Amino acid sequence: MKRYFIKSVILFFVCVASGLDTQAQGINNLDLVIEKKIDSLLSLMTIKEKVGQMTQYNGSFDVTGAPSDIDARTKLEKLKNGEVGSMLNVLTAKATREAQEVVMKNSRLKIPLIFGYDVIHGYKTMFPVPLGESASWDLEALELSAKIAARETAAAGVHWTFAPMIDVSRDARWGRIMEGAGEDPYLNSVIGVARIKGFQGDNLSDDYTIAACAKHFAGYGYAEAGRDYNTVNVGESELQNSILLPFKAASKAGVATFMNSFNEIDGIPATASVHLQRDILKGDWDFKGFMVSDWGSIAELIPHGFAEDKIQAAKLAVVAGSDMDMEGRVYEVAIEQLVSENEIKEELLNDAVRRILRVKYALGLFDNPYKYSDEKREREVLLAPEHLEAARDIARKSIVLLKNEQAILPISKNIKSIAVIGPLADDKDSPLGNWRAQAIKNSAVSVLEGIKNTLSADTQINYAKGASLGIGERSFLMPLKINDTDTSGFADAVAAAKKSEVVILVLGEDAFQSGEGRSQTDIKLKGVQQELLDAVVSVNKNIVLVLMNGRPLDLSRPSDQVPALLETWFLGSEAGNAIADVVFGDYNPSGKLPVSFPRNVGQEPLYYNQKNTGRPSSNMVTYSGYQDESRDALYPFGFGLSYTNFSYGDPEVSDTKFSGEGSIAVSVVLKNTGKVTGKETVQLYIRDLVASRTRPVKELRDFKQIELAPGESSKVTFTINSKTLEFFTSNAKWEAEPGEFEIMIGSNSVDLKTVKITYE
Ligand code: BGC
Repeated sequence: MKRYFIKSVILFFVCVASGLDTQAQGINNLDLVIEKKIDSLLSLMTIKEKVGQMTQYNGSFDVTGAPSDIDARTKLEKLKNGEVGSMLNVLTAKATREAQEVVMKNSRLKIPLIFGYDVIHGYKTMFPVPLGESASWDLEALELSAKIAARETAAAGVHWTFAPMIDVSRDARWGRIMEGAGEDPYLNSVIGVARIKGFQGDNLSDDYTIAACAKHFAGYGYAEAGRDYNTVNVGESELQNSILLPFKAASKAGVATFMNSFNEIDGIPATASVHLQRDILKGDWDFKGFMVSDWGSIAELIPHGFAEDKIQAAKLAVVAGSDMDMEGRVYEVAIEQLVSENEIKEELLNDAVRRILRVKYALGLFDNPYKYSDEKREREVLLAPEHLEAARDIARKSIVLLKNEQAILPISKNIKSIAVIGPLADDKDSPLGNWRAQAIKNSAVSVLEGIKNTLSADTQINYAKGASLGIGERSFLMPLKINDTDTSGFADAVAAAKKSEVVILVLGEDAFQSGEGRSQTDIKLKGVQQELLDAVVSVNKNIVLVLMNGRPLDLSRPSDQVPALLETWFLGSEAGNAIADVVFGDYNPSGKLPVSFPRNVGQEPLYYNQKNTGRPSSNMVTYSGYQDESRDALYPFGFGLSYTNFSYGDPEVSDTKFSGEGSIAVSVVLKNTGKVTGKETVQLYIRDLVASRTRPVKELRDFKQIELAPGESSKVTFTINSKTLEFFTSNAKWEAEPGEFEIMIGSNSVDLKTVKITYE
C-alpha cells in the first residue's frame, strides 16, 4: 500500500510538471510520451481502480453538502476511492470543480474525472435542432455552431459532449430523426465531421474545446417501424455503405469517443457486438479513443435476452469493446469477479482504461484537472452577444422555403395589416427544441416577437393564438397531452385573419413531440391544428404557413391549401428573428431538405437513395408502388426554393472515361435568372449502373454552395475520382468497380441533369 502511495505521488507530480505533450490533434495521433505515462499509471492501478475508470455515474446530487440519501453517500465514497472515472450531468464551473476536488483530494491515484453532457445543439445559446441545422448544408456555419456550443460547455466545466448523432435516419415516425443530419449517409458524414471539428478544434487541450462523441454505434436510426429502441435487421452491405459511412468519417476525423446504441442488429445487441466494436471500429478503422455505452445499455443486455445476469452482461460488453459503462452499474459489480475467475483477461481492462486515460490526457486534465472550471470565464462566455448573433445567422440559413406561389413571400415591410396566428406563433419555448441542455425556459424569440422587432408601428399586427397544442405541463419523461377538442380560440383567429392582408400561421409540433422515445404513427398536424387552418383559410387565402417541427410531417393537405410554406424546424434562441428575416426578405432562404417529406405516413421509411428493385415501374399494378398513393416524396431530399430562380446548363465532362488514380472534371453553368441575389446548393449524385451488390438509384456524393447576383452566372466544377465512385463491394472492400456511371447534377434529388461516364 505504502509503495503504491509513493509511486502515485511521484506520478502525480510528473503529470503536473509535463504540460508539453497534450497537443495531439484528434485522438488518433498517438503521443508516445503520453502512452508511456499511461503504461506507468496502468502498472499502478488495482483492478478496482481500473473498473472505476470504466464507470460513469449520473451526477444529479450535491457532492459538497451532506449527502441526503444512501445512494448519494455511496457515490461520494466511490468518488473518494477512485471508483468512478466519469460523470454525466454535473453542470456549472462550481459543481464540476467541487466534484473534481473530491477525487483529486481523496483518491489514491488522483486521476481526474471527465464530465460529459448532452450538448446537442447548444449549451445555453440554442442553435437549430440538428436536423434543422443540417438543412443549411453550410459546413462552415455548422462547424461554428458546434464551436460556440463547445466554448459555452467548456466554460461551464464540462469536457465532453455526447454529440454529434450521426445515425442515418429515414423514418419520420422516429422521434430522434430530429437529432441527426437526416437520411443521407454522405450528408451525415460531412456534417458529422464539421461538428466534430467545431467541438474539438485542432487541439483538444485548448481551454475552449471539448471532446466529441460519434453516436449511436450503430443502426439506431433504422429501428423497425420507427419505434424507438426497436429491432434492426440489416445485412453487411447496408450496414457498411449506409449506416457506418458517417462513423467511418468520424473516426478518421479523430473524434475522441464513440457511444454504442440500444438496438440489436441481426440478433446481436450493438453494445455486445464484437463485429462492430472490435472488428470494424477498433480493427479496420484503428480508432484510438474510447467507447461509452448508451445509458444503461450494458444492463439492458438482460432484457434483450442476450445475457442472463449482470455478470454475463459485463463479460459480453467488455469483450465486445464497450469501454465505459454509462449508469448501468454493471461493470462495478461484475468485472472484479470476472477477472478473478479468469473469465476475462486483465488486458481487456488495460485496453479500455488506456483509451479512457488517453482522452483525459488529450484534454489536458492531468495538467490541470480544474482548467475548465472557471466561474469568471463561465459568466463571460455563456449567452455572449456574438453567440446569439451566430445563432440567428445559422437559424435563418436553416429555413427551407417549400412553396411560394405568386411570390407571396417576401412580405413588404410596408404592409398595413398582418395576422399572426397559431399555437406556436408566440411560443417562446418550443423553438428551443427537446435536447435543450441549459437553455432558459421560454427564452427563445417567438415568431410574434420577431415580427414585432421587424415591423414599424405603421403595420397593424393582429395576433390570436387560435388554440393550444399541448395541454398541461410538459415533462421530459412523460408523453405530451395533445389538445384534441378545445376550439374556443378559433373565433378570435378568424377575426384576426379577416381584418388582415396576410396571415402568418404558425403550426407544427410542440418541442416535446420529437426527441428520444417520441415515436409517432401519425405525422399529420396534431390536435385541432388542421381545423384551425381550415377555419382561417375560409376567410383569408393569403396564408404563409410557418412550420415548426422536429421531423418530416405529412403536409399533403396543408400544402394544397396555402400559397406559401416555410419549414423552420426548431430554430433555437433566435428563432423568431431569423424567421422574420426570411419572411420580410432581409435574408433570401437557401435551406435544402436533409430528409424527404412524405405524402402519407404509409410511405415511411421514405428516402431518395432507394434501390431500383426488379420492378421499378409498369403501367400495370405489378410494380413496386402503392395503389392509393404515389411512391414519390411530396417534398424531396435536397429540395428548397429561393426568392430568386436558378437555371442549370447541361453538365460537361473533361473526359468520358478514366481509370485507376485518375480523375475527371464535371462542370455545370449555374445562372441566377431572378431579381435578387441568392445562394444555391448545387448537388452531385451518382448511380453505379451495374455492380457486385445492387446500388441505390441515386447517391449524393458532393455539393457546393454558390451565391450569385441577379443575371450572374458561374461555372461550378466537381472532381470525380475513384473515391467518388467507391462502395463496400462483394469483395468486402471499399473500391470503385469498373463500369458505367451516371453523374447527375442539379438543385435537388429529383431535378437533375445527367451525363454518363465510364470507370475503366
Ligand atoms: C441517449 C443518449 C444520451 C444519453 C445520456 C440516452 O438515453 O440515447 O443519446 O447521450 O442518454 O443522456
